[in-house]
Amino acid sequence: MILKEKTALVTGGSRGIGRAIAIALADEGANVAFTFKSAIEAAEKVKGEIESRGRKALAIQSDAKDINGAQQVVDRVVKELQRIDILVNNAGITKDTLLMRMSEQDWDDVLDTNLKSAFNFSKAVCRPMMSQREGKIINISSISGVIGNAGQVNYSSAKAGMIGMTKSLAKELASRNIQVNAIAPGFVDTDMTVKLTPQQREALLSIIPMKRTAKPEEIANVVVFLASPASSYMTGQVLCVDGGIVM
Ligand SMILES: NC(=O)c1ccc[n+]([C@@H]2O[C@H](COP(=O)([O-])OP(=O)(O)OC[C@H]3O[C@@H](n4cnc5c(N)ncnc54)[C@H](OP(=O)(O)O)[C@@H]3O)[C@@H](O)[C@H]2O)c1
Repeated sequence: MILKEKTALVTGGSRGIGRAIAIALADEGANVAFTFKSAIEAAEKVKGEIESRGRKALAIQSDAKDINGAQQVVDRVVKELQRIDILVNNAGITKDTLLMRMSEQDWDDVLDTNLKSAFNFSKAVCRPMMSQREGKIINISSISGVIGNAGQVNYSSAKAGMIGMTKSLAKELASRNIQVNAIAPGFVDTDMTVKLTPQQREALLSIIPMKRTAKPEEIANVVVFLASPASSYMTGQVLCVDGGIVM
């Protein structure tokens, strides 16, 4: 168990990739706190799955867009689980449509949920990580932020923003022994992608060299690597986990 006695905080841990990350970190020995927005039942289930592995778990309902809420979440994690070694900025949404039809609300919601949330939580963990003299921040971006995607001007802007944030914050915190890296997943089977039509799915598979979508666990495995001592000399990097789309 490579994360024994570590404490992790995952935003958006009730479903999909965040759930898989929370469980994978617990499998490696970490105590795990996670946030969610509204899926109380799903969150309780994930909490139980973490506890069944013999780890401490906190499921905290908190809107990641809210900066005061993020500070309260971090304060609670430090109080109840004593420390915070790993932050995974995973909470995210899509509101896809062409720019011509995109409302200001669609833009704001997606930017605030995907990008501002990462600012909120990264800012809140800086102090505890600095006083511990170590930490790992892992941002879940997207290949949409690397290569763009029609219909996702809001989402790809947010995800590209996360990549810029990863690199700048990595430079700010490197001397404090805090590493900041990002993962850019391709297409992962979660509630976020289930809405794709068969035609969209077909078109998508045609651009994936590995000819399949990912399971959430295949993203979580890379989070475990970045959270572990195995990535001790990496910071400011973006790992594309996408079946070969970006190369
Ligand atoms: N699926 C993909 O193909 C894919 C590809 C690239 C990147 N990603 C990124 O991976 C991350 C996870 O995506 P996913 O596919 O696992 O999505 P998902 O299945 O829709 O799950 C989203 C998670 O984020 C939480 N969340 C949403 N808005 C929130 C808010 N305002 N405050 C707090 N939590 C919030 C949800 O909480 P509730 O359950 O309470 O709603 C849920 O736990 C996102 O950042 C996404 O952009 C996904």
